[in-house]
Amino acid sequence: MIYAAILAGGKGTRMGNVDKPKQFLMIGDRPILVHTVEKFLLHEEFSRIIVVTPEEWTNYTLDILERYIGFDERIIVTNGGSDRNESIMAAVKWIEENEGLGDQDIIVTHDAVRPFLTHRIISENIASSLENEAVDTVIAAIDTIVTSKDGKTVSGIPVRNEMYQGQTPQSFNIKKLKTHYESLGPQERSILTDACKIFLLKGSSVALVEGEMFNIKVTTPYDLRVANSILKEHINR
Ligand code: CTP
Repeated sequence: MIYAAILAGGKGTRMGNVDKPKQFLMIGDRPILVHTVEKFLLHEEFSRIIVVTPEEWTNYTLDILERYIGFDERIIVTNGGSDRNESIMAAVKWIEENEGLGDQDIIVTHDAVRPFLTHRIISENIASSLENEAVDTVIAAIDTIVTSKDGKTVSGIPVRNEMYQGQTPQSFNIKKLKTHYESLGPQERSILTDACKIFLLKGSSVALVEGEMFNIKVTTPYDLRVANSILKEHINR
């Protein structure tokens, strides 16, 4: 089985003073989350599209999905977790409890606030995760990346053609993801901001899928303005 997990369990604190988490803000005529879910609905391969949200926003999420998309039995709304990885694991838990877990089952996880992913990116994530335990979507770094351990002086300048920027989706063999995550201690879990890193820590390789420059994550008020321009100018076509 092939599942999608749309991660909408965050509070969007970097968006500043807005009345709802950023995944519910409008771009064009629809909430960001709705744009994102619509992209996944175009893929028949997904047996379930699991949207994880903060518990207090569950009814609101159900309302907007009903209003803008209508009823679709593939869409499930469930509570997210305390951080992004815990939200992924909440989707895994829903699958395990409601459908059971098969050895070949895969999950395509995606930030709800990246509404401009393309049909190609989703298709390539599905195809690659059927062959690899873990898949990351990336674009080649354009700027030179500079590292600094203390924020005052440069500690390194890695070779640019080995540098990429991580996007989502990130896709996984679900059983492997669960086993690897459960084998981590609380300390390791708390420093892991990226789900693919779980596989790297466990010595597994992570395959790459090429993303798109416009597959941006809406994080700040500036990003919201950029997102409206991408939509208006059809830059994502
Ligand atoms: N996310 C999630 N569950 C969490 C935290 C984040 O599902 N407990 C989701 C967010 O809703 C978002 C994605 O992960 O779609 C990327 O995270 P980020 O941009 O950091 O979102 P927030 O945590 O909401 O933002 P901020 O860090 O500004 O508070």
